[in-house]
Amino acid sequence: MKTLVIIAHPNLEGSRVNQRWTQELLRYPNDIAVHELYKAYPDWNIDVPREQHLLEAYDHVILQFPFYWYSYPPLLKKWFDEVWTYGWAYGSQGDKLKGTKLGLAMSIGDKKNNYVPEGSVSFTVDQLITPFVASARHAGAVALPYFAVFGASFRASDEEIDQSARDYIEHIFKHCGV
Ligand SMILES: Cc1cc2nc3c(=O)[nH]c(=O)nc-3n(C[C@H](O)[C@H](O)[C@H](O)COP(=O)(O)O)c2cc1C
Repeated sequence: MKTLVIIAHPNLEGSRVNQRWTQELLRYPNDIAVHELYKAYPDWNIDVPREQHLLEAYDHVILQFPFYWYSYPPLLKKWFDEVWTYGWAYGSQGDKLKGTKLGLAMSIGDKKNNYVPEGSVSFTVDQLITPFVASARHAGAVALPYFAVFGASFRASDEEIDQSARDYIEHIFKHCGV
């Protein structure tokens, strides 16, 4: 079963981690379909029926993005607001995401040991992504364990990023059963 990866990076060409991850994803065209939100909608005018049909076609969907202000980049937040509509994603008739396995893949600028209660961030990533988990549950979808690379801002070496790209593919194969 093919997995859909929706990438939301405002400047993928200037990115290190997400660009490398995207290159790696594109090596598996039989197993992974890639959809770049900022490329598809440079004017931020999201084609809602197109996005809904795309989601309906996949049982496994990964949302890939750089962690911005402990959350999504803005076009991905807009995508949730506009695509996950009443009567489609939720409400008495809204069952189109029911049973869909949904995961997050995030590049996170700061170090892993800051993402603990006693660290400078004060919260774990699991705590910070509770709005996503709650949204998935609200739509009857199943939230998968997240995948992340930390220290993505400047600390990670090229080798670490290469390794994270391989680990990311392994994560998709393990959790999405491709
Ligand atoms: C607007 C903005 C907000 C950011 N917010 C966070 C943040 O809340 N936590 C964090 O650890 N890193 C944060 N960062 C760092 C990014 O997560 C990091 O630059 C990105 O993951 C690197 O991935 P890339 O090489 O694919 O661009 C932020 C960066 C930008 C530009």
